[in-house]
Amino acid sequence: MWGGRFGGGPAAIMQEINASIPIDKRLWEEDIAASRAHAAMLGAQGILTQGDAQKIDAGLAQIAEEYAANGVPVDLSLEDIHMTTESRLRDIIGEAAGRLHTARSRNDQVATDFRLWVRTATDRIDAGLAAMQKALLDRAEEHADSIMPGFTHLQVAQPITLGHHLLAYVEMFARDRSRFRDARVRLNENPLGSAALAGTSFPLDRHATAKALGFDRPMANSIDAVSDRDFALEFCASASIAAIHLSRLAEEIVIWASQPFGFISLPDAWSTGSSIMPQKRNPDAAELVRGRAGMLLGAFQRLAVVVKGLPLTYSKDLQDDKATVFEAFDALALSLAAMTGMIETLTFRLDRMRALAATGYSTATDLADWLVKEANLPFRDAHHVVGSCVKRAEQLGVELSALPEAEAVAIHPAVTAQVLASLTVEASVASRASYGGTAPIRVREAIAAARAAQQD
Ligand code: ARG
Repeated sequence: MWGGRFGGGPAAIMQEINASIPIDKRLWEEDIAASRAHAAMLGAQGILTQGDAQKIDAGLAQIAEEYAANGVPVDLSLEDIHMTTESRLRDIIGEAAGRLHTARSRNDQVATDFRLWVRTATDRIDAGLAAMQKALLDRAEEHADSIMPGFTHLQVAQPITLGHHLLAYVEMFARDRSRFRDARVRLNENPLGSAALAGTSFPLDRHATAKALGFDRPMANSIDAVSDRDFALEFCASASIAAIHLSRLAEEIVIWASQPFGFISLPDAWSTGSSIMPQKRNPDAAELVRGRAGMLLGAFQRLAVVVKGLPLTYSKDLQDDKATVFEAFDALALSLAAMTGMIETLTFRLDRMRALAATGYSTATDLADWLVKEANLPFRDAHHVVGSCVKRAEQLGVELSALPEAEAVAIHPAVTAQVLASLTVEASVASRASYGGTAPIRVREAIAAARAAQQD
């Protein structure tokens, strides 16, 4: 395609390092869509005859069918998806195929294809995140009143509702979705028509190709259009943050499924066994989601390092952008699907969660709050009184509710047996009804709000 000034062909290793077709064949739908939009615009502008434009369009439509049916042929001598398609077009329609590349370069072509691909990938991830949220919302609704220990420092802290805990992830994934959506707005501009770097002498209509490809407008600067990859970096950055959220949830599944916790069990479909220990049931999928976050974080780094030292405009280093983003997308889509499946099907061991929620003096803050409200103690004093009660209960090896009244009133006269008996985990969670709090009534409201937000 570019051999006019060359006497000999490339060395075999040159061909191998240069070719991107094994990777960028994944852009074929976008490549054909962009070529059809370009050809139609060239025809409408009188840059190509209507006859040639139509021949090109029909040929490209046929190639799309061939690729869909048989895959994209990989021939390293054709370098990339752009030349592979153009070469096939020449086989089908002959000489007119050579007119498709008028007023175009592979530099604006690949930038266009890649933006279109990342746009679709963004929409797919959004759907995956929405499905993840729905699974969490369904389980949260089921468990709006179920009680579990809430942790700080992985120490039992205060009783919470399981629904509230699950809703925390719904919020994180909502922000992930909004990050992807924000990035999509910036991404959705058309590089096509920038040609190699400087624009073109042909009277293009870049607004027309933008419209045909669903872009909001043409990119304003041809140099920027062919050189920058911040849309791909934003995709990887957003994907990294979503992967961090998934990894934390995965970590909780791993911990919760362990025998010392025993909060959940995963069904057979989401567990694996051990080849030596017959009793084993391992949460491998969660561990793999946790591990794959490493790949996603690496993807951002890898792409950032490729781009950061490049002078304007295009350099071939940029060819490696696609493998990175494809891998990141695949890893995130798979992680989301696996995590959604686990959340939908795991069983919560509610007795165990509730029992542990009552350990570790988890209602100590409730007693301190009660002393502030009913005995008018300053919170710091109340904190001290309750600290002494906990210390004594610990010495006696009992929970707060079982502290003998004589011991309690000796610490502070207001701490009667009746007060201690009222320190149940149910009362504790019901009392935390501040906005955003763990009380079942707030959890149900939050579920309704999150479901409504999902419809937008
Ligand atoms: N395969 C190339 C890539 O992915 C297409 C652009 C080639 N441009 C060039 N000037 N050699 O980046």
